[in-house]
Amino acid sequence: MRHFLTLRDFNKEEILDILDLAISIKKDFLQNHSVFLMQNKILAMIFEKNSTRTRVSFEAGIYQLGGMGMFLSSKDIQLGRGEPIKDTARAIGSMVDMIMLRTYAQERLEEFAHYSPVPVINGLSDLFHPAQLLTDYLTMIECGIYVPERVYDIPHIGLPKVAYVGDGNNMANSWLMLASKIGFELRIACPKNYMPDAKILSQAFEFAKESGAHIVLTHSPQEAVVGANVVTTDTWASMGQEDEKEIRQKIFKEYCVNEVLMSLADKNAIFLHCFPAYRGQEVSESILEGKQSRVFKEAQNRLHTQKGIMVWLHKNRA
Ligand code: CP
Ligand code: NVA
Repeated sequence: MRHFLTLRDFNKEEILDILDLAISIKKDFLQNHSVFLMQNKILAMIFEKNSTRTRVSFEAGIYQLGGMGMFLSSKDIQLGRGEPIKDTARAIGSMVDMIMLRTYAQERLEEFAHYSPVPVINGLSDLFHPAQLLTDYLTMIECGIYVPERVYDIPHIGLPKVAYVGDGNNMANSWLMLASKIGFELRIACPKNYMPDAKILSQAFEFAKESGAHIVLTHSPQEAVVGANVVTTDTWASMGQEDEKEIRQKIFKEYCVNEVLMSLADKNAIFLHCFPAYRGQEVSESILEGKQSRVFKEAQNRLHTQKGIMVWLHKNRA
């Protein structure tokens, strides 16, 4: 049985297998064909942090696949009152077919998965947001930015250059995993002391040796964005860092993706953002709402990618 906790645990072929499923499920969805690949299956969704897109896409997704989703806020279940995660994992896991967990420490997710008798999906942790990254990759494929060697009938530009500008957070860490597994160029620009997790960086450099990925770390947003095919960013203060908002706004103020910065990218570059977005901080209104922005395509793709993840995990159950 496999879990989906981080892209670190997946090889390139498996990542592409999940995307193949997502692409085919999306095609059926757009043609109004119902594909009940998870008929009568129950997905429990546990949220220890807020969510809009993750909740709606998983809940709508499992329903459209013929199953049902169960939303569990940690405020309402015993987990929020300190019940040990290993007890919750075994109890819920004995009654449903799959569990999605949005939480804080990655170790908490790992402990949950260790005790769960059914596959567990990371719906975001402090360290990673892998479902979002597969979605971003699907969006890049659909925009013709990058199509892997496997045949997709979409014209594309070859190996892309992706610029991530901002905080070295769960999104930056996840971009590192995706780029280093798939093998494209990733430039990450963060302020000093806000670089991605050191252990993840060194793992990404290891994976890059095999995949041919090129990873560049800089403090200069301009250096990262020059000639890039994809420019992306994320909030400067993630969930759980609310107390640091003010100080972070000062430290990150040169890291806003605005018209001036975006003008350095390739003229056909696209802009991605996982949302929620803070206009005037990590991105200007004009870029978020502008013609290079693909953020709402990206948001909708959560639905399709996560169906691919659920179906893949379901198929890979022993
Ligand atoms: N991008 C993302 O995960 O959004 P939500 O926090 O709204 O789920
Ligand atoms: N880095 C952000 C992503 C939100 C989807 C956070 O963790 O809050």
